[in-house]
Amino acid sequence: MFVLGIETTCDETAASVVLRGEDERGQILSNIVLSQTAEHQPYGGVVPEIAARAHVEVLDHLIARAMNEAGLSFNVLDGIAAAAGPGLIGGVIVGLTTAKGIALVCEKPLIAVNHLEAHALTARLTDGVPFPYCLFLASGGHTQILNVGEYVRLGTTADDAIGEAFDKTAKLLGLGYPGGPEVEKEALKGDPERFILPRPMLGRAEADFSLSGLKTALRIEAEKVAPLSDQDVSDLCASFQQAVVDVVTDRLHAGLRLFRERFGGPNALVVAGGVAVNQSIRRALHRVAGEQGTVLVAPPPELCTDNGAMIAWAGCERLALGLVDTLDFAPRARWPLDPLAGPR
Ligand code: KG4
Ligand code: ZN
Repeated sequence: MFVLGIETTCDETAASVVLRGEDERGQILSNIVLSQTAEHQPYGGVVPEIAARAHVEVLDHLIARAMNEAGLSFNVLDGIAAAAGPGLIGGVIVGLTTAKGIALVCEKPLIAVNHLEAHALTARLTDGVPFPYCLFLASGGHTQILNVGEYVRLGTTADDAIGEAFDKTAKLLGLGYPGGPEVEKEALKGDPERFILPRPMLGRAEADFSLSGLKTALRIEAEKVAPLSDQDVSDLCASFQQAVVDVVTDRLHAGLRLFRERFGGPNALVVAGGVAVNQSIRRALHRVAGEQGTVLVAPPPELCTDNGAMIAWAGCERLALGLVDTLDFAPRARWPLDPLAGPR
């Protein structure tokens, strides 16, 4: 089956066509992502109103390009999928309404996809991972450890998401937006042991996170040595990233232990979300998976950050199960993954 996927929940406008074969394997026929980073850069973060308007301006062209690159006309599509939340509501409305329009005119089923479920299922598109698996979803808005297959949440953050902590750290240190890649780049030149930062939640049996204390501690350390030299910034980034790596390592050990106790061994540890691009975090997760007797599956970076292929693929999985939606499906700013009926 062929599904068109549309993503507009945050600051990326994206459209993609994915083929799901008889063998249930996925193939990306086109995947076009237009980042709005330049529009939001002057404000140091995503401005919802600017995001929504920017989606409106480019989405039609992007969809046309995605269809062109796939070499398909709308009438051969089997479904139109759009991220219907969670996310910035103005953007979600743009993508979902566009999908509804195409579905209506072409008389194709609409699939309203949960953006988090799309991140969660990407490893099935790239690697065909069977259910159930343990997902570590770490993006700008979310930090969760989940059983994918049943969608049971094993851990989450009490305050900031990990990506948000990277973004706030970058802003504090005068680096660009989005902060994750900037902090990672600086950290390569820095000393991770120069600043003593806390490792919140370390050693706890449950698999939850807390990152706001780490961010505050970083600010206090930065104020102590201000004005900051280039080396200070690099050392602060390296120390911050090392603290995050230590926290992620410990929390994922706890998460995988909980998974095993409740559901038996997972088929894999899967990472998703923009933070999963970070090489130090990936290396740490690789070690954790090995020590917990499982394997790490990490989709390529361009499929970890927001994209249309993950929406199209989630649409394929739902469509294959007969899960389609009506044209009055309402966009959702909030839409937790756990109460959602899983794809199984
Ligand atoms: O999944 P995503 O593209 O968007 C959503 O939030 O849904 O994730 C974006 C987040 C941002 O907070 C960004 O700073 C973070 O992922 N990120 C990174 C890296 N690349 C992106 N964080 C740490 N290291 C990176 N290399
Ligand atoms: Zn995302």
